[in-house]
Amino acid sequence: MLNPDRFLADLHHLRTFGASGVGRGVVRPAYSGPDVAARRWLAQRMSDAGLQVAVDAMGNLFGLADGPSLLLGSHSDSQPEGGWLDGALGVVAALEIARACRESGGPSVSVVSFQDEEGRFGVTTGSAVWSGQLTQAEADNLTDHQGLSLGSARQIMRDMITGDVDPGRFTGFIEMHIEQGPALDAAGEQIGVVSDIVGIRDMNITFSGRQNHAGTTPMHLRQDAFQAVSAFNTALNDQFRNVVTPQTVWTIGHVSLHPNASSIVPGRATFSMQWRDADANRLERMEKIIRETALATADARRMQVSFGRLLGLDPVAMDDRLCGALEQAADAVAPKRWRKMPSGALHDATNVSRLLPVAMLFVPSLKGISHAFDEDTMEDDLVAGLRVLDLAVRNPATQDRP
Ligand code: GLV
Ligand code: MN
Ligand code: MN
Repeated sequence: MLNPDRFLADLHHLRTFGASGVGRGVVRPAYSGPDVAARRWLAQRMSDAGLQVAVDAMGNLFGLADGPSLLLGSHSDSQPEGGWLDGALGVVAALEIARACRESGGPSVSVVSFQDEEGRFGVTTGSAVWSGQLTQAEADNLTDHQGLSLGSARQIMRDMITGDVDPGRFTGFIEMHIEQGPALDAAGEQIGVVSDIVGIRDMNITFSGRQNHAGTTPMHLRQDAFQAVSAFNTALNDQFRNVVTPQTVWTIGHVSLHPNASSIVPGRATFSMQWRDADANRLERMEKIIRETALATADARRMQVSFGRLLGLDPVAMDDRLCGALEQAADAVAPKRWRKMPSGALHDATNVSRLLPVAMLFVPSLKGISHAFDEDTMEDDLVAGLRVLDLAVRNPATQDRP
């Protein structure tokens, strides 16, 4: 039997790994001590539920049912400052449903917690490798903002690895998640059935100028790398004006100045440039503008610019059959309080859609806040989401192979 109390208790227990900051925040980045401890605990919970635990070389953690099964799950790593529900909700809901299905003789359900969804090293790295979007060797060469390679970081999980998990054993994938935006909360609705997931591009850019004395170097002689970033940002916002829509977003979220000292004109600035949109062509046009604007900014200052590896995922649509099962379930659990909606956040479901039919459902995020310590959701909404997922899993339409 589905047990909402057991589900909530597990969700709160998972939060204790890396619990930090105000509210219910967590700090549990991929391959950190708390992330690995959380994965060990989840593995034990999967095993207690009668699932066979499997961990691949990336550190993706699976709880496998026997024979063909539906795969449910999300990720249990967090942003450097994250909330307690982003990813964790989908993993713990999956665990509860797999457990309830085994207890009640329901359909076969397997569980996954993908590794590095939050992109410490890339963009949804664990599911990107599992789905064949990225090779393990390519992933191993990715580095975090401190310069640590993924290949080194993942050694912390080497004693847990059991081997590859064949996607052919799964009939489909459903990921439950918090919305991470304001739409459901503002409308007083409980459930979102996702229609599609936007695409993303992510690339580091470096301006190299001339490191020099901050007191003696006249302004007109400087090749100040921070000034270049600042000018680039202003120019880019202007250049984008005729290309973007109100739904397009772009972010410079990480800036690293060298040597990062008050009395030194910075000689080098490396920053992350990320942009997202539902239209792959627009993402490409934006890339061209980014490169041209950066080159023009560097030229105007007699500086150099270099571009890191372009990472990204294209927009994807969800599977009609699985969406239909979620819509029927949403109608039963939250009549007139659900909607079909796109996802502006990125999810492992994007990668998994290369292999399997996929669908997603959302529950509201209070005030639309996420990727912050004070991310939260009403308990009733968490449980409503669990019930929708459970009903959808038990719908015979979900069990059919595509
Ligand atoms: C995933 O958390 C994202 O950045 O959308
Ligand atoms: Mn997430
Ligand atoms: Mn996230």
